[in-house]
Amino acid sequence: MRIHPSILSADFGRFADELESIRSADAAHVDVMDNHFVPNLTFGLPVVARLNELSPIPLDVHLMISDADQHAPKYAELGVDSVTFHLEACRDPLALARRLHRIGSKAAVAIKPATPVSELAELVTEVDMILIMTVEPGFGGQQLIEQTLQKVGSARDLIRSRDVSVGLQVDGGVTESNIGKLAELGADVFVAGTAVFSGEDRAERISALRDEALSHSHQ
Ligand code: DX5
Ligand code: ZN
Repeated sequence: MRIHPSILSADFGRFADELESIRSADAAHVDVMDNHFVPNLTFGLPVVARLNELSPIPLDVHLMISDADQHAPKYAELGVDSVTFHLEACRDPLALARRLHRIGSKAAVAIKPATPVSELAELVTEVDMILIMTVEPGFGGQQLIEQTLQKVGSARDLIRSRDVSVGLQVDGGVTESNIGKLAELGADVFVAGTAVFSGEDRAERISALRDEALSHSHQ
């Protein structure tokens, strides 16, 4: 059970302290948005490069950008631990996953709420992690869309059917009240922005989320 706080909810003027405050988490989730694939703009390569230097824990970079085939490799080249691209923003996902691996990062693929899990059938053996978006990508602080829950179960079934060790990440509206249900359905990597950064004591928020997920896990 891995907890990845999303620094989209952090204070952008104090990144070093904010990253330090989540050092008990498994990775820092970094949301890159281009104002094209999603209607919001965050940060790009130079900022992610600096975050990677500052962070005491690995970076999990979630790219919400168009033309991932061209741009995602540049993030892997920064030396971040993991790069997630959106299936909807990619022409050749298989080639991209292999390229990210050759550069040396983990490769993960994300799908938006309307994209069916069946579209991942051929990719599942080629990636380290699948990300099921539980909100429409673009903004933190939204409520989890209930209809995405069954996709978490289907994604876990898909991973099991191929007998591979692939992480199953959920992102958007994850709270202490719904993380147990998500863990029961088979998620094992949890992004949480608001749920971690709205609290004063981030270590306490992280361990409360992790304990709640663990107590509902089948694994
Ligand atoms: C949304 C981002 C999320 C966001 C999650 O597009 O991908 O990572 O930061 O924030 P919360 O946990 O507040 O929904
Ligand atoms: Zn994200």
